[in-house]
Amino acid sequence: MAAYEYETHDYDVVVVGAGGAGLRATLGMAEQGLRTACVTKVFPTRSHTVAAQGGIAASLSNMGPDNWQWHLYDTIKGSDWLGDTDAMEYMVRAAPAAVYELEHYGVPFSRTEEGKIYQRPFGGHTTEFGEGPPVQRTCAAADRTGHAILHTLYGQSLKQKAEFFIEYFAIDLVITDGACTGIVAWKLDDGTIHVFNAKTVVLATGGYGRAYFSATSAHTCTGDGGGMVARAGLALQDMEFVQFHPTGIYGSGCLITEGARGEGGYLTNSEGERFMERYAPHYKDLASRDVVSRCMTMEIREGRGVGEEKDHIFLNLSHIPAETLQERLPGISESARIFAGVDVTKQPIPVLPTVHYNMGGIPTNYWGEVLNPTTESPDQIFPGLMAVGEAGCASVHGANRLGSNSLIDLVVFGRAAAIRAGQVIDKDASVPATNKAAVDDILARFDGLRYAKGAVPTANLRLEMQRTMQADAAVFRTDKTLAEGVKKMDAVAAKLSDISVTDRSLFWNSDLMETLELTNLMPNALATITGAEARKESRGAHAHEDYPERDDTNWRKHTLAKIDGTKVTLDYRPVHVDPLTAEADGGIELKRIAPKKRVY
Ligand code: FUM
Repeated sequence: MAAYEYETHDYDVVVVGAGGAGLRATLGMAEQGLRTACVTKVFPTRSHTVAAQGGIAASLSNMGPDNWQWHLYDTIKGSDWLGDTDAMEYMVRAAPAAVYELEHYGVPFSRTEEGKIYQRPFGGHTTEFGEGPPVQRTCAAADRTGHAILHTLYGQSLKQKAEFFIEYFAIDLVITDGACTGIVAWKLDDGTIHVFNAKTVVLATGGYGRAYFSATSAHTCTGDGGGMVARAGLALQDMEFVQFHPTGIYGSGCLITEGARGEGGYLTNSEGERFMERYAPHYKDLASRDVVSRCMTMEIREGRGVGEEKDHIFLNLSHIPAETLQERLPGISESARIFAGVDVTKQPIPVLPTVHYNMGGIPTNYWGEVLNPTTESPDQIFPGLMAVGEAGCASVHGANRLGSNSLIDLVVFGRAAAIRAGQVIDKDASVPATNKAAVDDILARFDGLRYAKGAVPTANLRLEMQRTMQADAAVFRTDKTLAEGVKKMDAVAAKLSDISVTDRSLFWNSDLMETLELTNLMPNALATITGAEARKESRGAHAHEDYPERDDTNWRKHTLAKIDGTKVTLDYRPVHVDPLTAEADGGIELKRIAPKKRVY
């Protein structure tokens, strides 16, 4: 093994990742005077949150009546009754204040005539506990909301003197006596190794969309936090629930916001039919995402897809006034032109359900503290470690996330993690000392990959994984496809031990970095397909054709997956069914949020 020198850094808190959740956590920590480092593999404003388009959900009531109880009901129903009710209540109650806070930090929201924050309709967001018309709850900065939030939070974090370590790749967590005490990172531009000792590490590394072949996710969405947690012997939760966004551009997978349907866009099949009216008579194109994606897939399977291969669907916007498109949806008008060659004022956009979001992730409570569940203590905390944003699973999205509940999740739980850190971190205590043995082990793994001289190039193995996941952990699943998928993924993952890395340098070595990323994607993918194979019901994004109904008696529980090499061990923990406040203001009647058939 090569000898590695390393530089050490001591902080109260190290946040890994600089997307919306990472920056909101970083900002909150720094505001409280905690010495905070944010370690990120990409420049903060290039984090994947920048691609979030349509908006952020909060019951501000700017466009009509709304309240947090309706938002809670929609979120629970959207989750297909798998989300943790206490965490969901925490999120929807905190949402309005979190959005106003963003406004005060400087996010340039679009405005109504009266100067209020503009809100648009999004799928699954309703009034009157799902009985009334759609609600305009999604606060938007045109169709560039994530971009606006990210730039604002980065500026505010700098103002609070948070320290940024940009283009540092986090290799692994340092675990000392059953607690996380830091991370080891590789600085990409000069090849140096850095050990960050910390009282608390916050994983805000985003999702693992790139485990699939076609995803709206950036190429950087490689589940790095999940990979590190799996290697630390901790569990990942509810990984079988992968969201397909109905409107990825056919071919490129580039996102066309649900806000396009919120502003009046609609889907049609080869017969020119607005088919969503048949499947979801009440909310139509604004049904929940999993529902719309399944309906599109059924239309294609039944021969009513559009195009030469009849393998996609049209999204129509040309009836919307050009000035509205220009004002509300400028970004997607441009994306449609560039990626589909379409002028949205005249032509429909070819779209296809595309992997978009991971409901599962690192299990946490609603303060972002990572859980290390046991049968006796399902909510036991793993000390020194937090996870927020798409990397984490609080779980507020359960089996299916509502559009625009992602951005609110990022800021509410980034903020919650900071509040909690302020309560539990002793600023005067010393930072844990460097655990040299653990650091050596981490560097030995790094070195093993750097000098890997096997037969399988990283890019080939990644493609094999992506194609397997795309084919076998798809919108619709069966016992047969899932069993085949598990078998194939076991074989794919086994090939990691025969990986070939050809560039041995430490400077801007994308071969080595992509190999490290692949070792993170792989446990995420294995947990996804194995958890899916085991779950014998249909719930939210997990549509199992052999078990088409939800089975609350046997399966209203969270999956926990531990991964050791190619071996995945599954366990389960109970869903938190009770709200935070049984008699919450406005009176959320428990019978209203009890499980029932999910129709739109
Ligand atoms: O459709 C969109 O704009 C995506 C939003 C989301 O995933 O929350």
